[in-house]
Order: sequence, then C-alpha cells, then structure tokens
Amino acid sequence: MSATETEKDPNRRDFLYLATGTVGAVGAAAAAWPFISQMNPNAATRALASIEVDVSSVEPGQAITVKWRGKPVFIRNRTDKEVEEAKAVALTDLKDPGAENENIDASAPATNENRSAGEGKENWIVMIGSCTHLGCVPVGLAGDFGGWFCPCHGSHYDTAGRIRKGPAPKNLFIPPFEFVSDTSVKIG
Ligand code: FES
Repeated sequence: MSATETEKDPNRRDFLYLATGTVGAVGAAAAAWPFISQMNPNAATRALASIEVDVSSVEPGQAITVKWRGKPVFIRNRTDKEVEEAKAVALTDLKDPGAENENIDASAPATNENRSAGEGKENWIVMIGSCTHLGCVPVGLAGDFGGWFCPCHGSHYDTAGRIRKGPAPKNLFIPPFEFVSDTSVKIG
C-alpha cells in the first residue's frame, strides 16, 4: 500500500493488522470476527475496491477472516490431507457442480483445483464467508466434511468450500483475488 493510500484511508492499516492478527484455528478466527467488526465501525460502511492481505503467518491448517466490501472473506491454508480429501470427491457427488469462482470461466466445474488459488497454490482457498442459504457466517474446521459448518440451519461444506449437506444451494462463492507475491493476496 502506498503512503497516499494510507493517508486516504487511515483505518485501513489498522484493520489489516487486526485481521491478520487473528491467525489461529479457524474457530478462533470465526470467533474474532465480531471483534474485528466492532473495532472498525467505519470499515463496514467503506466499500473498499480491493485489499491486500499478508498471509505469511498463516500456517497449514490455519485460516484468517478479513473484511472486503463489508463481507467476511475466509483465507485458509489447507493441509495436504485437506487438499487430498477435496480432490478425492467425485463431481457427481456435488450438490452444486459449478466452481462459483469469479476468477475463471463461469461454466467451470467445482474441482478442487478450480476452487483453490490454482496451480502451485492449491493449498490456499479464498471464499466469501457467507452461507449461500441465508447468509450466516459458517464456522471453519467443522461439520461432517471437515470444511465449514453453518449452524443456522445445518449446512455442511467440504474442505474446498463446496456444499455437501444441508439447505444451502451453492458452494461458497470465490471473489476476485490473486496472489501478488508468495505471501500477499489481493482481494477485489
Ligand atoms: S444460513 Fe446457513 S444453513 Fe441457513
């Protein structure tokens, strides 16, 4: 971020610091979400076009939640086991066979690769943290498939964020994002 950008938006640096400071178990990140919201009341009303997030301290098996355009965004560094579990799922077992990934073709299938940050970065997954049923924030590392669980009405997502059980109709949506370096993700 340039000095000019920081001056225009003085809270942004603090927000990103808080957001990236929530590294830990996914459950911990989810629990910290209201705290982040509370500490940054202005951020909720500020429609940031894009944010850059330092993920250097997010170890395999950990996740953070950041805010982008007023929405929670999950960034998870999956373990090899979680990636293998996602790869092993047959597309015919999926309720929503679409990748739901804004970065690739709208008709792309929901393979593990199409749901991840792509070749060489398949461990990373970036998704809007809003249940596709009625918009609750799912809890990470939970549910029958080890991905995310939405306690509102019982939707289970797998380790690639694909809906596997419960009332949600769609996989968790993947926003526009890219790794601008090995340790930095730009969302938006
Ligand atoms: S809002 Fe998630 S299951 Fe209903």
